[in-house]
Amino acid sequence: MMNAREFPKRRKELMRMMGKDTIAILPTAKEKVRNRDAEYPFRTDSDFYYLTGFPEPEALMVLLPGRENGEFILFCRERDAEKETWHGRRAGIEGACEIYGADDAFPIEDLGDILPGLIESCDRVFYTLGNESESDQKITGMVHTLRAQARSGKHTPHEFVALEHLLHDMRLYKSRSELKVMREAAHISAAAHVKAMQACKPGVMEYQLEAEFLYAFRRANGHPAYSTIVGGGDNGCILHYTENSGVLKDGDLVLIDAGAEIDNYAADITRTFPVNGRFSEAQRALYQLVLDAQYAAIEQVQPGNHWNDPHEATVKVLTEGLVALGLLKGSVAELIEEQAYRRFYMHRTGHWLGLDVHDVGDYKVGDEWRVLEPGMVLTIEPGLYMGAEKDIPKRFRNIGIRIEDDVVVTKEGHEVMTDGVPKEIAAIEQLMAG
Ligand code: GLY
Ligand code: MN
Ligand code: MN
Repeated sequence: MMNAREFPKRRKELMRMMGKDTIAILPTAKEKVRNRDAEYPFRTDSDFYYLTGFPEPEALMVLLPGRENGEFILFCRERDAEKETWHGRRAGIEGACEIYGADDAFPIEDLGDILPGLIESCDRVFYTLGNESESDQKITGMVHTLRAQARSGKHTPHEFVALEHLLHDMRLYKSRSELKVMREAAHISAAAHVKAMQACKPGVMEYQLEAEFLYAFRRANGHPAYSTIVGGGDNGCILHYTENSGVLKDGDLVLIDAGAEIDNYAADITRTFPVNGRFSEAQRALYQLVLDAQYAAIEQVQPGNHWNDPHEATVKVLTEGLVALGLLKGSVAELIEEQAYRRFYMHRTGHWLGLDVHDVGDYKVGDEWRVLEPGMVLTIEPGLYMGAEKDIPKRFRNIGIRIEDDVVVTKEGHEVMTDGVPKEIAAIEQLMAG
C-alpha cells in the first residue's frame, strides 16, 4: 500500500511551487461506457490519485496555497443509501475530510456554485487545458463569467498555467514508498511470467497464457497495467498485438508483454521464449543479440548519463550484430547514421514508468536529452522484428523478439526490479525443461 503520509507531502510540495494567490483545479477521470449500460472498470486519473489518494469517480480537487480556511478541498459524491446499495460504498463529504484529509469537502453537484468564488480570489489558475473538453468548458466558462463581471468590481485571474508542468516533474522522481509499490508490481509480474513459461507448450492457445497473468494479478489484488500481449510466431512481430487468439506452435517463439498494476503503479515486462522450450540456432542468434543489446542499454542507466544513452547503446549493438549475421550490409557507422536498423527495430528503447505505463515526465530539457537522476524509473526494451521478405534468409523470417525490464536509477547506478524472471537462454531452457 502507498504510505498515506505521501499525499499531504506531495500537495504541500506542489503548493510551495505554485506560490501565493493561486488555485489548482484537477478533476479525476470519467467513467466510460463499454457497451449499452455496462461500464469499463473505473480507473482513477493518475495525477488526481497522486495528489489525493481518492479512488472514486465524479470528484475534483482544489488546492489553494496559504488559504486560511483550508488549502485542500475535495468535491465528491455524497453518501446515498440507495445508490450505495446498487453501486457500492462512497466516502462521502465526511469521508473526504476524515479519511482523505481534505480541509473541506462539498458535493460535486455544488461545483458550479462554489468554485467560481474560490477562483475569484486568485491571480493564476493552475489547470491543464486540452485533456477533457467538458471540464475545460466548465472551468473556462467560470473564468469567462468572472471576467464579464470584472467591471462590477469582481477580481478575475489573469493567467491559466498548465498544472502538468509542475506535477509531472514531481511524478518523475519516485519516493521510497513509490519504489516499494513498484517493486511489488515488478515481483508479481515477474512471477507470472515464470508461470507462463512453465505453462507453455505446443498446442496451447495464446489466450491461455494470457490467463496465467490475469490469475496471478487478481490474486495479488492487481490488474493488467495495459493490454497483455501474447504473440506466437509472426504475431510477435506485431508491436501492439492483443488479439491473443492464435495457437502456439512447435518451433516458434512466443513474445509476452505483460505487467501488473498494483496500487495504481505499473510494471512492464517482456519475455520471448521458445514454445517447445528449446531455441533453434537462428532463434538463439537473434535472441542473444537482443539480450546483448539489453545488457548494454541497462549498463547506461547511471545517474549523470542522458536519457538517450541506453537507446544509443542498443542501436550500436543491434547494428553490429545485424551486420555480423548478414542481415545488414555496409559500415556500422553509416548504417547507424542512416538508421538502417529501423527496418528490424522500429521503436525506442524505453519510456518512463510509474502510475502510467508510459509515465509522465519530459524526455528532453530544451534541446538536450534529460539527465538521469536517482529515483527515475524507466523500461529498457530492445527488440528485433524480422519480416518475411525474400532478402531475409529463411531461417530468420517471422521472428519477433523483445526483452523488457524495469530499471530504477540509483545513487550508485541502477537496480533492475524485474529480474525475478529469467532471460538468459540457458536459464529459460532449464526452467521450461521443468
Ligand atoms: N507494454 C507497453 C510497452 O512496452 O511500452
Ligand atoms: Mn514498455
Ligand atoms: Mn511492455
